[in-house]
Amino acid sequence: MFLRNCWYVAGWLEDVASDAVVARTIIGDNIVLYRKSDGALVALQDRCCHRHAPLSLGRREGDDLRCMYHGLKFNPSGQCIEVPGQDRIPPKACVRSYPVAQAGAWIWVWMGDPARASEDLIPRGLIGPAQTDWIYGQDAMAYEAFYELINDNLLDLSHLSYVHEKTLGRQSLQWGETRPAVTPIERGLRVERWLVDDRPPRHIGAPDDARFDRWTAYDYLAPGIFLLTSEYHALGTAKASGMAKPSARPRHVNMTQQAVVPVTARRSIYYFTAGHRAQDTYDGRVPLQVAAVVNAFQEDRTMIEAQQRVIDASVPSPMVLTSADAAVSRFRRIMQALIEEEAHAA
Ligand code: FES
Ligand SMILES: [Fe+2]
Repeated sequence: MFLRNCWYVAGWLEDVASDAVVARTIIGDNIVLYRKSDGALVALQDRCCHRHAPLSLGRREGDDLRCMYHGLKFNPSGQCIEVPGQDRIPPKACVRSYPVAQAGAWIWVWMGDPARASEDLIPRGLIGPAQTDWIYGQDAMAYEAFYELINDNLLDLSHLSYVHEKTLGRQSLQWGETRPAVTPIERGLRVERWLVDDRPPRHIGAPDDARFDRWTAYDYLAPGIFLLTSEYHALGTAKASGMAKPSARPRHVNMTQQAVVPVTARRSIYYFTAGHRAQDTYDGRVPLQVAAVVNAFQEDRTMIEAQQRVIDASVPSPMVLTSADAAVSRFRRIMQALIEEEAHAA
């Protein structure tokens, strides 16, 4: 059901402080995260091989992690290296270790075959604390829904005109009535469009009656990574650009980067950043933007959790597709193909 051979976001870089021992569940696997003395991250199965107590209730000791039930100690590879009161360490005394990386604002864990883990498969273009030309805020939201429904939501922004009618959509029907260009990229899709003569969101700081041609482009990547940039241009730019990607310099640029992470088959976690180019922002603009997206994502969550309840209560039946589902359907096929390829290889 889940793709294993890929990187999943396990939290923000700062979620695992130097002496912290942190529990996470990703695609149903319980994981414990901690840092070695040099700051490098370790991800281990969160189940002691002795009596199955959670290692996340354990204690970091230098580079190692001690189970605080009966004291077995594990090294960063998951090998038991100490059993209190006995010299012999049983050969099977080990826990699984997972490849782990840091990129952008996030910690990433590879849930599949460690031999296939390559940091080249972590999306490019991530914005994090190292990119000082961006100022952003961040938040996260728990969902009682299968992650695919959240992916679907982000791959079809026509819902902005309806779910977010009074918030992000600003009563514009353009999201619902225009269709983006959708092109394949490696392990995902690029989705781009113009909104012509549109009201910008309030957080860009333009006068309330300001109007722009807005170029909105995002990459959507397996298993659920959304990297969006919006450029606000003078009216007429969309037409002058032949309704294609603009070469003109935008007046404002903002971004949001989001990660949809399956926790279990009915629970997900949604991490998101939102921010502006440092040169476009002023005090208070980023918090306004983050508050706007949190408000909007609560609208999404209300709809998607309700959708999940309807689906769960119904006899399975096909969904009737519209042209707005182009990216939704294509991304579902990309994920299906990756999952099938993995099953085949296994
Ligand atoms: S359960 Fe971990 S040492 Fe006993
Ligand atoms: Fe939404």
